Amino acid sequence: MSERTLVLVKPDGVSRGLVGEVIARIERKGLSLAALELRTVERSVAEQHYAEHAEKGFFGDLLDFITGGPLVAIVVEGPRAISAFRQLAGGTDPVDKATPGTIRGDFGLEVQFNLVHGSDSTESAEREIKIWFPNL
Ligand code: CMP
Repeated sequence: MSERTLVLVKPDGVSRGLVGEVIARIERKGLSLAALELRTVERSVAEQHYAEHAEKGFFGDLLDFITGGPLVAIVVEGPRAISAFRQLAGGTDPVDKATPGTIRGDFGLEVQFNLVHGSDSTESAEREIKIWFPNL
């Protein structure tokens, strides 16, 4: 059964010229793109997206970072798209958790600047896609 997930190439991924690399990996896996937008996001959207982290000490820094430059928001579609993309991304910490061969493992060094986001469940995917692509 086909599934949708929300992927962000975060501002560090865009500024480092890794958008094509991320999209190539998504497509090579066999997943497809249902929507895509380059966008500098308003703080209110970032707050909604990261609402579950509102109490965390890094929340302010995370909002500054995610609103600090253009990012690419993508709706990715395909069988088990949510876990398939999380496998491509690797663990949240690019050094301690993500393994070589994953996006974060190959290109990241710091947990905040971990290049990509992918929804972590069907409920998150539905919620996040509504935030980023309300007309989809
Ligand atoms: P993401 O998968 O988008 O979900 C939450 C984000 O918070 C995470 O990727 C990281 O970019 C960021 N994050 C998680 N832990 C920390 C931390 N300890 N310090 C700064 N940022 C963090």
